[in-house]
Amino acid sequence: MGELMDLVLLHAFPLDARMWDVPGALTPNLRGHGEPDLDTLARQVLDQVGDEVVLGGCSMGGYVAMAVLRRAPERVKGLVLVDTKHTADAPEAVRNRLTMAERVEREGVGEWLADAMLPNLLSPNASPQAQALTRSMILEQRQEDVAWWQRAMAKRPDSADVLGKADIPALVIAGELDPIMPPEITEQLVDVLPRSTFVEMPGVAHLPPVEQPEQFRQELERWLTSAVR
Ligand code: MLT
Repeated sequence: MGELMDLVLLHAFPLDARMWDVPGALTPNLRGHGEPDLDTLARQVLDQVGDEVVLGGCSMGGYVAMAVLRRAPERVKGLVLVDTKHTADAPEAVRNRLTMAERVEREGVGEWLADAMLPNLLSPNASPQAQALTRSMILEQRQEDVAWWQRAMAKRPDSADVLGKADIPALVIAGELDPIMPPEITEQLVDVLPRSTFVEMPGVAHLPPVEQPEQFRQELERWLTSAVR
């Protein structure tokens, strides 16, 4: 892939920058501090990136990209939203997040978290490398970050208003087999965004960049070349 320093990719929960295999992209690790709020992560991202970037995120990373857009729309010249959604949580989802945050604070990050998350993150087709990478990313996260991310996501607002005003090219990618955000959920972003392209990646679940990194890069490159550059 060519020079991508103006491409910024934000990771999913409860992972880190290793989920992206996109040479040349800037891939910050998101760290919780202070009162949990995705706007804190948005400010962290804005402090680390150039004046005008193509901003992408997978799932939680997509929520953070929306928080960046809310805070500084003039800094974003294109959007890549992977297996994510613009809606806020329903009350039951908020309760589940707080329950997980409390358990992480009590018990720490461990195999229980990896075992709970992995079947939803990866499809049965995922390679042994993708499985090992995802498991080790989960196990290596800091307890305080994992709890913080859940508490921050639980409070996030609906972002339809922000995305509706984003008159920039947007690529929306959905994993065909994603049980967390099935393509019909992710595809709703297409109706909200003024200028979007939708791609469904076959045979993968919630983390297309981990399960099919090469195909993911190709989709990204094709869109960057045709829609942004
Ligand atoms: C993620 O992958 O970042 C999470 O599934 C997002 C969420 O819990 O809503």
